[in-house]
Amino acid sequence: MSDNLARVETMNAINKEQIKGGVRQSRLHDSGHKHVSGEAVYTDDIPEPPRSLQVYIAMSPKAHARILSTNLDKVRAAPGVAVVLTADDVPGINDYSPVMGDDPIFAVDTVQYVGQPMFAVAAETIDQARAAAGLAEIEYEELEAILTIDQALEKQATVLATNVMKAGDSRAAIDKAANKLTGTLWIGGQDHFYLEGQIAMAVPGEDDDVLVYSSTQHPSEVQHNVARALGVSDHSVTIEVRRMGGGFGGKESQPALLASIAAMVAKKTGRAAKLRLDRDDDMEMTGKRHDFRIDYEVGFDSNGRIEGIEFMQACRAGYSADLTGAIADRAMFHADNAYFLENATITSHRCKTNTVSNTAFRGFGGPQGMVGIERVVDEIAAHLGKDPLEVRKVNFYGQGDNRNITPYMMTVEDNVIQDIVAELEESSDYVARREAIRAFNATSLYVKKGIALTPVKFGISFTTTFLNQAGALVHVYTDGSVHLNHGGTEMGQGLFTKVAQVVAEEFQIDAEKVKITATNTGKVPNTSATAASSGSDMNGMAAQAAARVIKDRLTKFAAERHQANVEDVVWLPGRVRVGSDEIAFADLVKQAYLARISLSSTGYYATPKIHFDVDKMQGRPFYYFAYGAAVTEVLVDTLTGENRITRVDILHDVGKSLNPAIDLGQIEGGFVQGVGWLTTEELWWDQTGRLRTHAPSTYKIPACSDRAPEFNVKIWEGGENREETIYRSKAVGEPPLMLGISAMMALSDAVASVNDYADYPALDAPVTAERVLTAVERLKAKRQAR
Ligand code: MTE
Ligand code: MOS
Repeated sequence: MSDNLARVETMNAINKEQIKGGVRQSRLHDSGHKHVSGEAVYTDDIPEPPRSLQVYIAMSPKAHARILSTNLDKVRAAPGVAVVLTADDVPGINDYSPVMGDDPIFAVDTVQYVGQPMFAVAAETIDQARAAAGLAEIEYEELEAILTIDQALEKQATVLATNVMKAGDSRAAIDKAANKLTGTLWIGGQDHFYLEGQIAMAVPGEDDDVLVYSSTQHPSEVQHNVARALGVSDHSVTIEVRRMGGGFGGKESQPALLASIAAMVAKKTGRAAKLRLDRDDDMEMTGKRHDFRIDYEVGFDSNGRIEGIEFMQACRAGYSADLTGAIADRAMFHADNAYFLENATITSHRCKTNTVSNTAFRGFGGPQGMVGIERVVDEIAAHLGKDPLEVRKVNFYGQGDNRNITPYMMTVEDNVIQDIVAELEESSDYVARREAIRAFNATSLYVKKGIALTPVKFGISFTTTFLNQAGALVHVYTDGSVHLNHGGTEMGQGLFTKVAQVVAEEFQIDAEKVKITATNTGKVPNTSATAASSGSDMNGMAAQAAARVIKDRLTKFAAERHQANVEDVVWLPGRVRVGSDEIAFADLVKQAYLARISLSSTGYYATPKIHFDVDKMQGRPFYYFAYGAAVTEVLVDTLTGENRITRVDILHDVGKSLNPAIDLGQIEGGFVQGVGWLTTEELWWDQTGRLRTHAPSTYKIPACSDRAPEFNVKIWEGGENREETIYRSKAVGEPPLMLGISAMMALSDAVASVNDYADYPALDAPVTAERVLTAVERLKAKRQAR
């Protein structure tokens, strides 16, 4: 049955009746009511076993220093302390890195960033553990620290080799072009600010066994890392996570640190151990979105069509590689966004600095790459005195066979950006509003308005091909209720709800009959992180495959029972029809059990069609693309730089939605998080390498009151995945974040008005009120100089 879509639609047409909570229905997040009432059980809410210990991690106060001597005698002797762990106490390998083996659990000989874990103290209470850690006597010899991307570039300090992607001949094309621009853009990082901080609780078992409750998007990797740290086999370690209070990429690689330490304490003491980071410690110790410097040189014609372009992308990896390789690659893959770049050279430097090791964050480098090209397109328009939307349109990928090859030689087969932008331009009344804004700005002395429409095209799949696989486990019990498990994790994005809908649809039973259960490495092994937005694509397919095995057995059984053919067995809501007989699902299941038919199955899925040659930087890294567009309007006080978003219109493509309510939530949340990144969220390190914005007092995520008073969000009705994804849906987790770029460009538009659009504001991100004010002053000074 290849085409799910057709199948469901015929089914619904025949029946005129529907199960509750099947696919395409807006179903509440299964835990929505528990999230708001406080009943949802997060890792910290799991009852602690008797005599549990609390663990504190002591952090480096230096950005780069040699450790001359360490004396922890007073720490060990302090009240309540059960055990102190250093690098010497790690029974296995002192490393929690995802790929490169360069993240020590505890620092050895040198420290490489302020906040680096040095040792851990487990005590009866967290206050005792923290107080004891303060008694450590450690002598350092300070070493020179590299703190910025520029310092790293100058010293050629990198965590991984520079990567280059090349299509056509950018040099020749730029040289020949009638118009040229060059520039540099800075894009800040971002803290995940998941409402639930990093946490792990380890419970020791017999022999080498340990069970770790970990707030992680990647239970399998945590399992492997814990086993490696303990020096035991993977089969001794079980990781479980029912839900996270947000992950946003920050819980892909980082949770292994906490889980490993908690597990070591548990095995050493025979007592359960909980490690929960304070917000400040979490912000100083764990990685964030990579900040970028992007240099560009572009040649274009009088219509603004790009003829040749060169990008130099330099990202701050921090002291180690973590996932920087794949993140920096994804920035390169999105240096085109929705635009055809025939002649492009993209160079990517992965800078090593003495700051925290940066990691995955919603979009995984894609957003930074995309801001680069959106900036260029915006500046081209300013240079030519055109509406940026016009320049965007002339550069879009083609919708037929021409102008549809990416710089990494993948053919864009599913481009719908023209359709989405046309519809949004109309529904948002973009043209008239832009004119009205210009008229307003001409007479308004201090308050200025700005507007921008920006597109998104985002590649779906892990670019590391082998990661694109998933597994599931489905049991049907004899009362007709179903137990569902899969390798994906729930972080608020609604994955569990969607996958349950898929299984309910398959069995034609109400979704409430499908029990959603915690992700557990003992149930579904060797999983990939729930990341790259592919959670529902992959786990939905794997769960469907598992359910189909059972369903096929039941179909065959029903046919045999009624001396009919399998083709005569029709699955209807809550029942099966064979000839003139109808059997309730629960009865069928019970009969099958008595006839000794297995009611349990695993399922597996591997994404088809994708391949990539990392040496050439060519291939088809993505199964398909997700598209969307946003129009944002802003109001700026040019005397203070303060600003508000006054209206947002979004049209976003989710294919055929599995659950429109949840998808809308993802679109709204993604957009707001993207706006926060590009406007108010500022990470600020001082000259000693200390992060000074490590709490909500100084690090400003969007508040409820920052929501645009007019916020029109629509799922694109024309959406349908041309690839055979689960019910033709599209991934939605990350792409909407990049719709937030429209806010940055709208602010740029507003600032440009102070000089009648004669000069380009060239704003760096985040566009904080301070940056807006500085740009306004810069433009005013230019005017006076004329
Ligand atoms: N939505 C919520 N509420 N919380 C999160 O932590 N993470 C995002 C996105 N949406 C996140 C979220 C990120 S970074 C990814 S990759 C996807 O969800 C992962 O889930 P999915 O693959 O099931 O979409
Ligand atoms: Mo998302 S950054 O791929 O976890």
